[in-house]
Amino acid sequence: MKDKIIVITGGSSGIGKALAEKFGKEGSKIVISGRNIEKLTQVERELKAQNIKVTAITADSASEIDNSLLIQRAFKEYGGIDVLICNAGISMRAMFEEVDLEVLRKLMDTNFWGTVYACKYAMPFLLKSKGSIVGISSIAGYRGLPARTGYSASKFAMQGFLEALRTELIKKQVHVLVACPNFTTSNIRNTALAADGHPQGESPLEEGEIMSAEAVAAHIYKAVKARKRDLILTTKGKITVFLNKLFPTMMDKMVFDHFAREKNSPIATI
Ligand SMILES: NC(=O)c1ccc[n+]([C@@H]2O[C@H](COP(=O)([O-])OP(=O)(O)OC[C@H]3O[C@@H](n4cnc5c(N)ncnc54)[C@H](OP(=O)(O)O)[C@@H]3O)[C@@H](O)[C@H]2O)c1
Repeated sequence: MKDKIIVITGGSSGIGKALAEKFGKEGSKIVISGRNIEKLTQVERELKAQNIKVTAITADSASEIDNSLLIQRAFKEYGGIDVLICNAGISMRAMFEEVDLEVLRKLMDTNFWGTVYACKYAMPFLLKSKGSIVGISSIAGYRGLPARTGYSASKFAMQGFLEALRTELIKKQVHVLVACPNFTTSNIRNTALAADGHPQGESPLEEGEIMSAEAVAAHIYKAVKARKRDLILTTKGKITVFLNKLFPTMMDKMVFDHFAREKNSPIATI
């Protein structure tokens, strides 16, 4: 990965930041994006202090024009793109009957359309480099999760889009990886939108007890190098995907019970 040019959307926190650090330490040139300029600049400083070649660009993944400008800036800075990592994402936690539909639109705009826009504008460069597209999806992209209708829908949509794109690109040698981490320590549950569209501001999980963003980044790095098709993380994640294929009805009940037990779960059990 030395001297490869890597564009990571949502590189100012969690998995995106860890990916920037991992690829950067392996000698890649990094472009990271995000909406919050302070957070981005802080991460840019931290990476530069580790001698990583990095450029931070403010861009909203939900905006087509921002994605176009992000890709243009990346090209101007480094002269090409070898790996595009569509990582920027937000989540939600609310029952569908209570949720403001704007929450679902926001999730689709950021997670799904953000991926589509970035791929569209990066495509000429990726075709030239025969590079990689990496979609950071989720186990929720294989198995619908209660109180996360918009999140699951956005990740299923991402996976359908990327599978179709991979198939289109078979002869053009552009590699497409769909990476599905299981629960990972990050800020995503704090920023997850509640029914009224405001961030829930807390995590229902013990963040210290789940996989670290750095460990996830190391797995994704290896999968990009090996040009793997899919990456499903943790044994529990793999079992969930497998059982869901074989016993979907049983999984409806198991998944319901699991998420109903979460701290402050919006899922009523009666
Ligand atoms: N953590 C998990 O348990 C987990 C599990 C499976 C999959 N994932 C996926 O991993 C990806 C990264 O999430 P994370 O867990 O690392 O969350 P995180 O710590 O909240 O980081 C999210 C990153 O995305 C950026 N972002 C959010 N909305 C954006 C937008 N509209 N435009 C540009 N950047 C945006 C954030 O920066 P700004 O807020 O400044 O824009 C931040 O840099 C997501 O796609 C998520 O669905 C996470």
